Amino acid sequence: MRHFLRLSVILWLLLRLPALAQEPCRSVEYKQATLQSDPALAIKFQEIENFTQKQVKRSSVVVNGGGHAGQLTATINIPVVVHIVYNNASQNISDAQIQSQIAVLNRDYRKLNSDTSKIPSYYSGLAANCGIRFVLANVDTNGRSTTGIVRRQTNKQYFSYDDAIKFTAKGGDDGWDRDRYLNIWVGHFTEGVLGYASAPGCEKQKDGVAIDFTAFGTVGTAAAPFNLGRTATHEIGHWLNLIHIWGDASCGNDQVDDTPQQGAATRGNPSGMVFSCGNTPYGNLYMDFMDFTDDVGMHLFTFGQRDRMRSLFAEGGFRNALLSSKGIAPGTPLDDAPADEVVAGDGIKIQLYPNPAFNTVQVSSSGNLLPGAQLEVYNQTGARVLTTRVPGSTFQLDVSSLSAGLYFIVIKGAAHKMPTKLIKM
Ligand code: ARG
Ligand code: ZN
Ligand code: CA
Repeated sequence: MRHFLRLSVILWLLLRLPALAQEPCRSVEYKQATLQSDPALAIKFQEIENFTQKQVKRSSVVVNGGGHAGQLTATINIPVVVHIVYNNASQNISDAQIQSQIAVLNRDYRKLNSDTSKIPSYYSGLAANCGIRFVLANVDTNGRSTTGIVRRQTNKQYFSYDDAIKFTAKGGDDGWDRDRYLNIWVGHFTEGVLGYASAPGCEKQKDGVAIDFTAFGTVGTAAAPFNLGRTATHEIGHWLNLIHIWGDASCGNDQVDDTPQQGAATRGNPSGMVFSCGNTPYGNLYMDFMDFTDDVGMHLFTFGQRDRMRSLFAEGGFRNALLSSKGIAPGTPLDDAPADEVVAGDGIKIQLYPNPAFNTVQVSSSGNLLPGAQLEVYNQTGARVLTTRVPGSTFQLDVSSLSAGLYFIVIKGAAHKMPTKLIKM
């Protein structure tokens, strides 16, 4: 009997473990807390994190006087499939509502959203064009033509975090190959769930984002204060490896250099400076897409967030395969305002005076530099020879320890893609 009991406990655990192990794939919020409990997934996440950090660092290192190593500069096109899983007619949202969501994504991820004008001036220099375009797929997994919209009626009254919406057999709709498409599932979720995302590294079949039908797009069933399409902007940020701005802990770490530390999530639509974690002088970046502010109060991704997301598409990156997807037929007209520009390092520029310099050089910036941002000096071979923290927008940098020659100055964060040449006499 004792043996039988022990055996059944072991059996129960064996049956139960895979389910428990899959939990972190529901949403990035659960990622940290469950890292220890699932070694295999923890290792996968860590691999992706290491790759990301290496890429982000690499792209700011100057190579032979100007270029950036490993930097991916073109606009990235992502084929999208939207699965509308509806129980009643009102949940079967219109094509127009779906298109309104795609349009929001294409503004937010290319800094074309008009509400960047509402970013306070002291933070406007942080807003980046992430150079990502979302296109409803017009070729399906079998090479046939498609609208990129799949509609499926379900008996289920509502869905939850359990991922049932991602499986036809569970009353949802099977996802398409995540190496070729971004899967977006839209359905009726239990009270309070606006949306959730899988983090890079999760199981193939659960890869994508899920959004409530009242928080999707800007028309039809979209309901205030989540009727400006920002739930999808936010969830796709997670899908592209972004962590909440407060780092999912009190004054946590979001692994992004140019976002200030923040104590906790922001709700509603605040204004003015709100301080936490000693984040002087400008306070919380609550207008970032990765906070919890109402749709109307979210306006930007930063350069650091841009780099983190785009790193996934570099060679060897977790989402690199999407670049060779055939989900968008060649010649498909893409919304092109502005024309396919190169995503260059367009952070705040810095000026050096005098230059050439002897022992000290004055560093000043075209916009607000975040005090505490890291300034790095590289020599011609790309080796870092000096590191210091920026005390403010204008300051004297001691370069007396450097030998004569050509150097490159990079400020990580706000200006970290703009290497400025310094000649040391
Ligand atoms: N609570 C959700 C998450 O953590 C989404 C929040 C979206 N916020 C918004 N204003 N639409 O992923
Ligand atoms: Zn989130
Ligand atoms: Ca940060």
